[in-house]
Amino acid sequence: MEIIIAKDAEQAAAVVADRFEEVLRERGEDGAVLGLATGSSPVLTYRELIARHREQGLSFAHARAFLLDEYIGLSADHEQSYHRFIRDTFTGHVDMPDELVLSPDGEASDPRAEAVRYDASIGEAGGVDIQILGIGANGHIGFNEPSSSFGSRTRVKTLTEQTVRDNARFFSSSDEVPIHVLTQGLATIREARRIVLIATGAGKAQAVRDMAEGPVSAACPASILQMHPAVTVVVDEAAARDLTHADYYRFIQSQKDRLAS
Ligand code: F6R
Repeated sequence: MEIIIAKDAEQAAAVVADRFEEVLRERGEDGAVLGLATGSSPVLTYRELIARHREQGLSFAHARAFLLDEYIGLSADHEQSYHRFIRDTFTGHVDMPDELVLSPDGEASDPRAEAVRYDASIGEAGGVDIQILGIGANGHIGFNEPSSSFGSRTRVKTLTEQTVRDNARFFSSSDEVPIHVLTQGLATIREARRIVLIATGAGKAQAVRDMAEGPVSAACPASILQMHPAVTVVVDEAAARDLTHADYYRFIQSQKDRLAS
């Protein structure tokens, strides 16, 4: 795992945006397949990518995107649906074709069949070139809550009480937060060719430590990322607080910066 400790959330977002820009330029007209997360963690990255699109002409015209997850029972245009969130915060502000921004259908009459269909559609698009992830305070990625199988594919999951409480900030009350979701599984997420996880704030410090330095265990689903060959974890100082080897990660980074300059 490459672990980058940024001085603050803005710098962390710029590092993640650099990785996305690299992939968009590499894939060019062949069209990058982007894996997108919702929630607060990627918002500054999306803002930075929108700024690069407006000010530097970074184009998403050939790209397509797959969301990690969706609430079951919310319509696509519901204010809190992830379908709507990603358009409002990111893809609606760049030149990515809207019909190529895909998410599981939270209103599908057969959610299990929808999960299988969605999972297959990622493979049919050639797989994800770069996936951005946030992490839950309990170590979830996507909505793969603790005890999720490392072999899981896109499926229906029940949120933990903690995740419902954490997500309640986006709703008028926690009673309104759906408790069932469709989420890419851990095995689905692992197939992305590159993964960049962003975590900021002290509330994520324990989860970041468990993910990067703890045992690979279903108790911390994100720890499966230790098995992936191309993962970058970008954290701010607060989220890095509990890392035992923080000085080593800083040392590696300073050597890379020196070689690059
Ligand atoms: C969102 C997602 C979740 C969030 C995680 C962190 O699509 O899959 O795993 O990334 O719950 O949420 P925030 O960023 O709001 O702290």
